[in-house]
Amino acid sequence: MPAQSDSSRAAARVAPALLAWYDRHHRELPWRIPPRQRRQGAAPDPYRIWLSEIMLQQTTVAAVKPYFQAFTDRWPTVAALAAADVDDVMKAWAGLGYYSRARNLKKCADTIANAHGGAFPRTADGLRALPGVGPYTAAAIAAIAFDLPEPVVDGNVERVVARLYAIETPLPAAKAEIRARTAEITPQERPGDFAQAMMDLGATICTPRRPNCMLCPLNGSCLGLAQGDPELLPVKAARAERPLRRGAAFVAVRADGAVLLRKRPQRGLLAGMAEVPTSGWSARADGGADASAAPFSADWRRTGSVGHVFTHFSLELAVYRADVAGGETPPGHWWSAPATLAGEALPTVFRKAIEAAIPDATRRRRPGPGAGRRKAA
Ligand code: ADE
Repeated sequence: MPAQSDSSRAAARVAPALLAWYDRHHRELPWRIPPRQRRQGAAPDPYRIWLSEIMLQQTTVAAVKPYFQAFTDRWPTVAALAAADVDDVMKAWAGLGYYSRARNLKKCADTIANAHGGAFPRTADGLRALPGVGPYTAAAIAAIAFDLPEPVVDGNVERVVARLYAIETPLPAAKAEIRARTAEITPQERPGDFAQAMMDLGATICTPRRPNCMLCPLNGSCLGLAQGDPELLPVKAARAERPLRRGAAFVAVRADGAVLLRKRPQRGLLAGMAEVPTSGWSARADGGADASAAPFSADWRRTGSVGHVFTHFSLELAVYRADVAGGETPPGHWWSAPATLAGEALPTVFRKAIEAAIPDATRRRRPGPGAGRRKAA
């Protein structure tokens, strides 16, 4: 056997300790095959792994679960999703945020159905070529669905590895080193369970604040712990401030309770989703915050304001409500009845605006608030 360096001997200790911990302490997740069943030969469904990974990008496990359930109940296979109407997919996604992902999800399902005979490619490179599948997602599907030894590095894994190796280079510059270290510790045996174990460790033990190092299966190998304060890692480069943009939202309510909606442009932020009429705000510029941009003249009354955080800016919308008798319909707009409002492809920011004008108007049947919340890490 070739001589092993100290660092490769240390690397070789990580996977057995972590996998033994995962066997006892793994989280039960609706898309996951537990380790015992996995060892008895149960294979994960690549469709469910892919769908969960797309949903989990920047959104928490708790927020994803009801959406995952609803999607897989309605579209149990990639062929079923490919046969779905894109507007129905957008409606089912509404509230999860990052709407271009839902569009790519549908495109990807179409590609699998039409160009791949209904089967997901079985390599990271093949997966990477699919719409909406980046390097992280390709590696995650390759590892979890096909048990390939790909290094899988999400925010949780970044934190675990930065601590394990006491990497002090700030993120994002440290990404290449973290990936190389992750590749070093990824085993040839059970790489899919290893990737999920790293995620679980980051989510439950090696947490951003107050990590529970006493219970960590890697505490004997962790250089961050040996140096005294693992919580200080990873170091993050200072983030640019998020600018605050302002605008106005107009909630017109007809006598039968219907609300006036329109469709956003097919390109740009929240493309193709539904909205209440608003003034012309964008990520780069404020819109008017008074009632001058209302879709028609009426008795517009200010009912409050709502805030929402997007990736690159925050938005504050002044909310105006008008109760209208007949309800004229400006071109490109429609009236959504109380019974249909919950099923509209309305991003959370516009649900908040409607709620500010009509409490509980959009609440029914939705998987709960905060689904589009960004992950802590
Ligand atoms: N976060 C991203 N992917 C995940 C997965 N497969 N299991 C748990 N957490 C995750």
